[in-house]
Amino acid sequence: METAEIRRRFLDHFERNGHTVVPSASLISPDPSVLFTIAGMVPFIPYLTGQQAAPYPRATSVQKCIRTSDIEEVGKTTRHGTFFQMNGNFSFGDYFKEGAVELAWELVTGSQDDGGYGFDPDRLWISVFHTDDEAFEVWKKVAGVPEERIQRMGLHDEENYWSTGQPGPAGPSSEIFYDRGPEYGPDGGPAVDKGGDRFLEIWNLVFMQYERGVSTGPGKNDFEILGDLPAKNIDTGMGMERVSYLLQGVDNMYEIDQVFPVIKQASELSGKRYGANHEDDVRMRVVGDHIRSSLMLIGDGVTPSNEGRGYVLRRLLRRSVRAMRLLGVDDRTLPELLPVSRDAMKSAYPELETDFTRISSVAYAEEDAFRKTLRTGTQIFDLAADETKQAGRPTLAGDTAFKLHDTYGFPIDITLEMAAEKGLSVDADEFRRLMTEQRERAKADAKSKKVGHADMSAYRELRDAGVTPFTGYEELSTDTRVRGLVRDGVAVLVAQEGDTVELVLDRTPFYAESGGQDSDAGIITADGSELEVLDVQRPIKGLIVHRVRVRSGELVSGQDVLAQVDPEWRIGACQAHSGTHVVHAALREVLGPQALQSGSYNKPGYLRLDFAWGQALGPETRSEVEEAANLGIRRNLPVSATYMPLERAKEIGALALFGETYDEDVRVVEMGGEWSRELCGGTHVARSSQIGLVTLTGESSVGAGSRRVEAFVGIEGFRYLAKERTLVSQLADTLNVQPEQLPERISRLVAQVREAEKKLAQLQRAALGTKAAELTGSAKDVLGVRFVAYEAPAGSSTEDLRNLVLDVRGKLGEQQPATVAVTAVGDNGRPTVVIATNQEARNRGLKAGELVKTAAQTLGGGGGGKDDVAQGGGSDPSKVTEALGRVEHLVGETITRGS
Ligand code: ALA
Repeated sequence: METAEIRRRFLDHFERNGHTVVPSASLISPDPSVLFTIAGMVPFIPYLTGQQAAPYPRATSVQKCIRTSDIEEVGKTTRHGTFFQMNGNFSFGDYFKEGAVELAWELVTGSQDDGGYGFDPDRLWISVFHTDDEAFEVWKKVAGVPEERIQRMGLHDEENYWSTGQPGPAGPSSEIFYDRGPEYGPDGGPAVDKGGDRFLEIWNLVFMQYERGVSTGPGKNDFEILGDLPAKNIDTGMGMERVSYLLQGVDNMYEIDQVFPVIKQASELSGKRYGANHEDDVRMRVVGDHIRSSLMLIGDGVTPSNEGRGYVLRRLLRRSVRAMRLLGVDDRTLPELLPVSRDAMKSAYPELETDFTRISSVAYAEEDAFRKTLRTGTQIFDLAADETKQAGRPTLAGDTAFKLHDTYGFPIDITLEMAAEKGLSVDADEFRRLMTEQRERAKADAKSKKVGHADMSAYRELRDAGVTPFTGYEELSTDTRVRGLVRDGVAVLVAQEGDTVELVLDRTPFYAESGGQDSDAGIITADGSELEVLDVQRPIKGLIVHRVRVRSGELVSGQDVLAQVDPEWRIGACQAHSGTHVVHAALREVLGPQALQSGSYNKPGYLRLDFAWGQALGPETRSEVEEAANLGIRRNLPVSATYMPLERAKEIGALALFGETYDEDVRVVEMGGEWSRELCGGTHVARSSQIGLVTLTGESSVGAGSRRVEAFVGIEGFRYLAKERTLVSQLADTLNVQPEQLPERISRLVAQVREAEKKLAQLQRAALGTKAAELTGSAKDVLGVRFVAYEAPAGSSTEDLRNLVLDVRGKLGEQQPATVAVTAVGDNGRPTVVIATNQEARNRGLKAGELVKTAAQTLGGGGGGKDDVAQGGGSDPSKVTEALGRVEHLVGETITRGS
């Protein structure tokens, strides 16, 4: 049965049974403290906790999920995938245990001819929470499962209790397992074959009825229960990939129809047969899994970076490239693999096809960057490996492997592989020790940054009294009341003059930072007191929190106050936010619709906007965008905000931001009809002309496939232009030309300077020619070796240096006594060193290649060459003197050792 069919049957079954079909939410978790959506229930958390009334009593979805905690297991087991789809049905205070069991059982065991999955009931096992007699009975009564196949599992073996791992809804759970047969493990049911391959969990039914608090211990189920949820709910999760692999008669989740085509392609590209060698199979499965996860993540707007979600994506892409490399494919691989994954997934996610230009350019750019990393790492590896071999050691030091990994992002298995090729082993114990050390450092770091859960509970209590209505679309000044004060995460009753506290009001005209728009500034006044608003945020959904400083008087919880947004500030904020929409529309007008915004920030006078685009915008394109934006402003377009159902908004093409979750009813801001139409909660001007002016000031890269434009808005835009004009006239005055003659004049000056520099270099070279004679006279005696070291002037080329050392050596002769000539130059941040040795020096063990290596290392680089003459370079010109000293030292050491 194809995965698409399994999906269809699932949704049909639950829709027939009164569930509303809800589309998958983004992979980007709505909760900023969690990176990804990890379960089908995540988008429904507010309904499960009762924070929001559920718009329907029953829902069903196929949710895209990412879990990466077991990334190392991918490919090795049958069922670990970083991306997976969780098919779920949800009851919000509607049916409970009986209903959940009945609905699941019907679908799982229902005949395939009748829309079911047709699993043999005799091969299904059930687990229930150890004290859940009710669930035990329900399985017997409703599903007719015999007692010996219903097993009780406890809280502390981490089974049969479920929460997201964070405070929120929780409850005992009950799981359905499929027995794959004795060839896969021992008898005795899932309680015996825990985590094994024989009894495969296919569906988890969670009886969500408690509210969990913070963790109290290391186990995933060590946490406090705060009390009952307002209703008894159902949250279930069926692993679609697992059901697929069982119903498709394959051995594991990597071989299902949505993944296997990529494995097949990897096998063809590498010429390695899938199924022939376990290690290669694991690599191909890693590729199959990771390519799909990357495709889905980029599809949802994630771009590679060094932290958070972006880092996970980067790791997935790099692990794929690396796995292909280990399979023997050194060429670019993503252009061969990604389209295959797209084709396997597009029937369920058609947007992957329409958006593929953007998705693929992000992925391909990352592969290119990684290939560059591999090249640099290889150079460093080669140097370290040669040195190890020359020193006669069989093992590459653990800290070299660690440095390659940590500093250059060079993966350890590639280090191992390349070391093996050179006949070296790697000190893996030391490497692991350094890795553990670093991991512990990182952990300690993360812990110290984590905010206390106390803050959240203080906010939650305040929000439980109702969400904060925002009055700021209609008015700038609102009579309201202090609902509560929070200091350092704890609710307090009073704030005194000079205090900085957080403040929640019954209603507020202050805009909380969101949708890229910075928070409003202003003041809050009460009888005898005045507060300055420093920041406004929404730390949890629905609750607006003001950070304020008490300028005078004192403030008491429950007090009536007047909240006033600074009108100047707000006008600026509206101009900047509308300006952002205008720039977005202009980008899409000039570059095409794929130039979609992926993030933005604006405050009075300034905006920046990140958008999907693969290359830098040239000056002409920038001007075009700027002109399109300012024409939009001059057209005096009306700006409107309308509420409508999300579906409708999508139909009329309103642009939504990646990763944002939107409510059923959304606000659509339009400017000139469809010219600019975006889902947006921000504040805006009434007509586009009120923006005044947008001046683009910068354009830069923010990660692969993503660019950023920045602009000044309104009067700030004017000031920027005025400043530029002043600059131009100053330059014109200095050079004594008309402004329009500046470019030509400056190019000429630059050319003249270059010419002069060239002449200077020639003169220096000529001077070097006469230098050799002088240097031979000043040779130093190092334990009987004539040692000449010279720091050549900046500007000398490598060729000059080479000629000089050869000249010196020639003058001193090939015969006794031994001679070493060294010269180095620190030029433009790229210091170079050249060394020559005469025959007698070589006889005494002084090899130019080795001496150069020491010098180059000191300079922060590498080099080598023959025994008689060699050159190298580095990156740190301040170390030139030190490098020469080291060479001298090594000469001494070599002679001492040799005699
Ligand atoms: N939320 C439950 C799970 O993820 C169904 O297993």
